[in-house]
Amino acid sequence: IRTLDDLDAEGAALGVRVDINSPIDGDGLDDDARLRAHVETIAELCRRGARVALLAHQGRPGGEEFTDLRAHADRLDELLGFPVAYSDSTFTADARERIAGLEPGSAVLLENTRFYSEEYMSFDPEAAAETYLVERLAPALDAYVNDAFATSHRRQPSIVGFPELLDPYAGRVMERELDVLGNIAESPEPRVYVLGGAKVDDSIEVARSVLERGLADSVLTAGIVGNAFLLADGVSLGAASAGVVNERSHDAVKNAGDLLDDFSHRIYMPRDVAVERGDERCEFDLDELPSNSPAMDIGVRTVAAYAEILDDAGTAILNGPAGVFEDDRFETGTLEMYSSATRADTSIVGGGDTASALRKLDLLEGFDHVSTGGGAALRMLTGDTLAGVEALHR
Ligand code: 3PG
Repeated sequence: IRTLDDLDAEGAALGVRVDINSPIDGDGLDDDARLRAHVETIAELCRRGARVALLAHQGRPGGEEFTDLRAHADRLDELLGFPVAYSDSTFTADARERIAGLEPGSAVLLENTRFYSEEYMSFDPEAAAETYLVERLAPALDAYVNDAFATSHRRQPSIVGFPELLDPYAGRVMERELDVLGNIAESPEPRVYVLGGAKVDDSIEVARSVLERGLADSVLTAGIVGNAFLLADGVSLGAASAGVVNERSHDAVKNAGDLLDDFSHRIYMPRDVAVERGDERCEFDLDELPSNSPAMDIGVRTVAAYAEILDDAGTAILNGPAGVFEDDRFETGTLEMYSSATRADTSIVGGGDTASALRKLDLLEGFDHVSTGGGAALRMLTGDTLAGVEALHR
């Protein structure tokens, strides 16, 4: 893959795909971590005299966070310390004129690519190159930079189409993500995966993949993922907890059970859980269950057992919280687990919505790498290649 080190940036009109898809609060951004992440790439390209046309999406058509990119452009101005122009269209004649008129060292943010229906469809690269977005915009550009690691699992035109027509380069965010997530097999051992949160099917797939490929020495389970494994192991958590797991996935308990059959010695499950009693947090050992209320966190005995494993970890890879950390009665497990993980030689966190919530609680301080990707990071962890990364090889 060619990186910015291989690019002749001076005076070049560059289409730079970034992922600044962010949680939205009213008219503003609720978290600007993804914008911050791209500052390095944008600032470097501008410093080197490129003419930068930023391509990005926000939300999904029909969704509440499907907005224009005006607030993003304003925030980029502040972060970069120089103005980023905003174009309220993506590939119209007006947008193309704005690109043509860019001075070296300046940037324009083009409108939300998903305002155009083709950008929310999946294409082969050849077909993606024939979409309106790519066909109309490519002639206005000299090269294409993909810095949108977090969208690169999507076969969307702005990700896989441009590399058919323009020389593609990886931006700095992309380079770093691939360097870390693409090279887990070389990271220090023992490797401990901590899989929590509510994306049960994804987590079980990650667990299977890393165990089968010999990448994981231990898999610690927590959150709803942990509860699925406990149910698969025959623990009677109670109907409420079972209901929460089944609501998320019908196959989780069966798939967790299959994995336990193959790798029980490497998979760790909670030893105790916390539930709500009245207004209080109450902890129960597994043999004191079932409980009428759902398990909302791991208990202190689990925290201690997991901390011991994480203390000896060469690499800790975390995805998802240990419980309902948004409720301060149930944040302990997540707080403790994340702080133990930072003591590993190398500590890595998968991104997405959970990461942005954890960041607000300052739980991501001290990690060596916090991915910008949610779905993309999970795909990488399962060993999949990302369509956008394949396109960069062209
Ligand atoms: C993400 O937030 O994971 C990326 O921006 C991709 O968004 P999507 O899941 O809506 O395609």
